[in-house]
Amino acid sequence: MSSVIAPNASKLALLGGTKVGEVTYSKFPVFSDRAIERVVEVLRAGKAIGLGRFHSPEIEEAELTISRYHGGREVLAVGSGHAALQCALAGLEICNGDEVITTPYTWGASISCILHQNAIPVFVDVEADTGVIDPAQIEAAITPRTKAILAVHIFGQPANLQKLRAIADKHGLALIEDGSQAHGAEIGGVKVGNVGDAAGFSCMGGKVLPTTEAGYLVTPSKDVFWKAAMIGQHMGRSPEKDFPNELRPWVDSLVYTHRVTPLNAVLLTEQFGVIDAWVNERRRHAELFRAKIADAKYLKLPDYAPGVKPVYHLLTMNFDAEAAGVTRDTFAAALKAEGMLAFGYVPSPIPDWKRLHWQGYEGPRVNWLQALEKAGVDYRGMALPNCRHRVANSIETRFDFIDNQEAMVSRMAEVIHKVEANIGALRDHERSAGPAAPAKR
Ligand SMILES: Cc1ncc(COP(=O)(O)O)c(C=O)c1O
Repeated sequence: MSSVIAPNASKLALLGGTKVGEVTYSKFPVFSDRAIERVVEVLRAGKAIGLGRFHSPEIEEAELTISRYHGGREVLAVGSGHAALQCALAGLEICNGDEVITTPYTWGASISCILHQNAIPVFVDVEADTGVIDPAQIEAAITPRTKAILAVHIFGQPANLQKLRAIADKHGLALIEDGSQAHGAEIGGVKVGNVGDAAGFSCMGGKVLPTTEAGYLVTPSKDVFWKAAMIGQHMGRSPEKDFPNELRPWVDSLVYTHRVTPLNAVLLTEQFGVIDAWVNERRRHAELFRAKIADAKYLKLPDYAPGVKPVYHLLTMNFDAEAAGVTRDTFAAALKAEGMLAFGYVPSPIPDWKRLHWQGYEGPRVNWLQALEKAGVDYRGMALPNCRHRVANSIETRFDFIDNQEAMVSRMAEVIHKVEANIGALRDHERSAGPAAPAKR
């Protein structure tokens, strides 16, 4: 039998060879027929207003469904992940000058929720292999003004919640989790969201649990729940039967509008019916991928301790630029040319971002600079070596494999093997052409 080999198959596509082939994904997000029918029903019934359980059985159903998923914790459905996080801080009464120890390696909304409360982010470094906050850095950053630790389960990888909980308890701090990229991830047999004093989750369309735009807060505390509702919901949902009387004098409409619509409430309920299957399928594909690239020399998946069960919607890898002899961006460009999405998700450590530098600030006015100036924080030039190393060297890719896509996982591995096998040619190319520009998502 003769096999047909494409011309130039062994030459890198970046250098004019034939690409391995596009890595395509399952359609995502997907909504079941039932979910779509229920959304239409809600529209037909003219249920446009999202004032909470008292007013909307759809919101009640969503909050109770999510609560069951989170072991009976209190759940507030809101309009976005950012809203959930801001409500978490407000529910814990963290604001004006309070310090929140957090990660420099995340999506900006993990930090803007702190800024929007006029609280002060205090950045500490992350773990080198995964990019989650490093518990060993936290105690040195605690001051008399510290009120909370905010950990982000970045790329679906759970932060070390057991250690963080112990530090928070020892120092009387609140622990807040940002689970926006990590619905269903677990550590030590516990789901993320179930360890913190409050947790915020995003359910925008690209997340592990997608709606259109929505989010939710999880907390073990009724007090935090109602205070969170007061800051983000119309009249603090005070018509609900168990609204605490002691909060009634403070109910008004001086709120952020963080309501969820009944349409997204229906989607939340329906998506929680399928999330376990999706999480498992993503994990199965990730394990397959791990096995297929186990022999890769320059690109490795993080190692997870026993009991750490990430969930994968963005998958992160560590690139060894020194061993490869090319920059991450050139390597990623070669992967991309072969057909695989490859990029660095976090563009720079957040404390480097200009809108945090009140010293000589010339941009459009923003409301948090005054608080930062008053606190005297100077974020410029923080060392953060692990964060900087990850920013420059990690490679992320989409991982939306929610049904059988093993062939695409094999293709991704083939792309990586091909680029690694041609590393000499890639080095020569970079020497003559210079490093590639950072890849766009
Ligand atoms: C880690 C993290 N935190 C917070 C958010 C904010 O979520 P949303 O866009 O729903 O406000 C996101 C969303 O991209 C995220 O990835």
